[in-house]
Amino acid sequence: MSIINNLSAIIALDVNNGFAKDGNIPWKSKTDMNFFREKTIGKTVIMGYNTLLSLPNSKPLKGRQNIIITNNKEKGKDYLQYDNIHFFGFKETLDYINNNTNQEYIVIGGIQIIEIFLPYIKTLFLTHFKTDFNCDKFYPLNTNIFLKSELVFEDDELTIQKLTKSL
Ligand SMILES: NC(=O)c1ccc[n+]([C@@H]2O[C@H](COP(=O)([O-])OP(=O)(O)OC[C@H]3O[C@@H](n4cnc5c(N)ncnc54)[C@H](OP(=O)(O)O)[C@@H]3O)[C@@H](O)[C@H]2O)c1
Repeated sequence: MSIINNLSAIIALDVNNGFAKDGNIPWKSKTDMNFFREKTIGKTVIMGYNTLLSLPNSKPLKGRQNIIITNNKEKGKDYLQYDNIHFFGFKETLDYINNNTNQEYIVIGGIQIIEIFLPYIKTLFLTHFKTDFNCDKFYPLNTNIFLKSELVFEDDELTIQKLTKSL
C-alpha cells in the first residue's frame, strides 16, 4: 500500500467532529463552498454512493468527472444520461487511478469512503467549523498520520488546514 501523489481528499467537520445530520451536511457556508469548488473543479471527484444521494437531486457534480464507489454497479443504470459519472468498486478505482495518471483525483466523502482511501491520499484539506451543528454522524479523524499541517484560512466561522503526509 503506498501513497498516490495525485490523490487528495477534502472534508468538513464541526467543532465536535460532526460530519452529517439526517443524511446531509447541516451547514451552509459560502467560504467552505467556494473552497470546495476551487479544490475540486476540473478534477475527478471520488465519492461513496450515499454521498451521491446527498447531492442536490442526487446529480453528479458539474465541471468534474465523478467516480461513485459502490458494491452494486447496477445503480449506474439510473445515470446513463450523464457522461461525467462512473460507478466503480474500490479496487477498480485504485486500478483506474494507476492507469490514468494524467488526472488529479480528490476524495470528497462520506466517512466510509474517506476511511478506505486514507492510507493512499497524499493531502487532506480539512475545514473545521467553530460551532456545533448537532450532527448525528461523527468522524474522529486521526491527524497523526500527517507530517505537515498548514493553516490555509481562518475567520470567525471556520479554519481550513492543508494536511500533508510528506514534510
Ligand atoms: N462533512 C463532509 O465533509 C461530508 C462530505 C461528504 C458527505 N458527507 C455526508 O456523509 C454522509 C454519507 O457518508 P457515509 O459514510 O454514510 O456514506 P458514503 O461513504 O458516501 O457511501 C457509502 C457507500 O459507499 C459504498 N462503499 C463503501 N465502502 C465500499 C467498498 N469498500 N467497496 C465498494 N463500495 C463501497 C457502499 O455503497 P453501496 O451500498 O452502493 O454498495 C456504501 O453504502 C451523507 O450524510 C453526506 O451528506 C459529509
